[in-house]
Amino acid sequence: MKKVLVTGGLGFIGSHTVVNLIEEKYDVVIIDNLFNSKLEVLDRIEQITGVRPKFYQFDVQNISKLDEVFKNEKPDVIIHFAGYKAVGESCKKPLMYYKNNLESSFALIEMMEKYNCKNIVFSSSATVYGIPKKVPLTEEDPVQSSTSPYGETKVMIERILEDESKVHPEFNICLLRYFNPIGAHKSGLLGEDPNGIPNNLLPYINKVAVGKLDCVHVFGNDYPTVDGTGVRDYIHVCDLAKGHVLSLNKLKENPGLCIYNLGTGKGTSVLEIIKLYEEATGVKIPYVIDPRRDGDVAINYASNEKAKKELGFNCDFDVKQACLDGYNYQVAEEKRTKK
Ligand code: NAD
Ligand code: UD1
Repeated sequence: MKKVLVTGGLGFIGSHTVVNLIEEKYDVVIIDNLFNSKLEVLDRIEQITGVRPKFYQFDVQNISKLDEVFKNEKPDVIIHFAGYKAVGESCKKPLMYYKNNLESSFALIEMMEKYNCKNIVFSSSATVYGIPKKVPLTEEDPVQSSTSPYGETKVMIERILEDESKVHPEFNICLLRYFNPIGAHKSGLLGEDPNGIPNNLLPYINKVAVGKLDCVHVFGNDYPTVDGTGVRDYIHVCDLAKGHVLSLNKLKENPGLCIYNLGTGKGTSVLEIIKLYEEATGVKIPYVIDPRRDGDVAINYASNEKAKKELGFNCDFDVKQACLDGYNYQVAEEKRTKK
């Protein structure tokens, strides 16, 4: 299993995974339409690894272009990151989310059937567990209908891939349920820098740290948690990337369908994150307490025991390191965009 087709390979998680794949000597081909990424990421991947992966710029929904790529490249395995991911936007533009996330997955499954590509890793999310009845969440916990169209696309694509695995026992399908990816590559060359005002906590804190935003709005301090603020499982994006390489090793064993949580197994509250961020960077992060955000749950974190046992997964980085790496990327990005 040498050649890996990475859809969405210039995005946040995709780019870090591509670096790991190249370091592990995989032959990487990327498709990305640059909807939420920049071509410079390809230069940065080359800067870090010394290898410039083959890149195709088009929408994965474009079946004729996708067919050409499969015909020419004959990938052994697909890692499917491409998709839209903003929860709030998906509630306002459901069709856009259903169309892109589902159609791109349909197109890839069709190509798998046509070109006998038997292996796929799919970027799923902890959102498929809905409102958790207990933590830590294990892979056996029920998948529930999601509160957002974004989340619903993950539930649907998981189901479609499960059904495909029943009629194609030769397919090896790995569903990876990510918890909250944060941080950046230690080089400061790859990371996450969303346009506009960030919805997610760490990108927001990064903007406060570099003076682009005034203070963090903490959404609620009356949850039944350690300090009243929401608890999540924040995983360094480089650990998450490593999980993908490990999942390829698993697929080589012909497991059929397999499902893994990728998280640290530990929960951290919003106020704890702010404190760790300040300790890691030496930058003061002012905050105010706001009301709860609609749709938020009190506590959400993973059991990663299955991934540890079956993939050999473990986390090399803690939340504090992720905060520092995220901050360093943000500072470097500010300098680069000022030039
Ligand atoms: P991202 O937006 O940074 O990366 C996605 C990439 O896919 C972007 O480069 C975008 O340009 C590209 N893309 C989108 N639609 C495409 C299409 N139709 N054709 C070609 N390229 C397309 O997102 P990310 O944070 O790297 O997330 C990657 C995957 O992981 C997504 O499927 C996302 O839903 C999932 N996920 C992300 C998180 C998270 O917190 N970041 C959590 C759980 C799951
Ligand atoms: C969100 C999505 C989830 C998605 C994940 C990707 C929602 C409801 N859920 O998860 O589906 O998979 O992003 O990373 O959008 N917080 C603040 N102030 C802020 C931002 C966040 O206090 O400005 C708090 C939130 O209330 C929460 C925690 O920080 O307790 C983390 O929030 P966020 O980074 O948005 O991630 P999730 O809501 O866990």
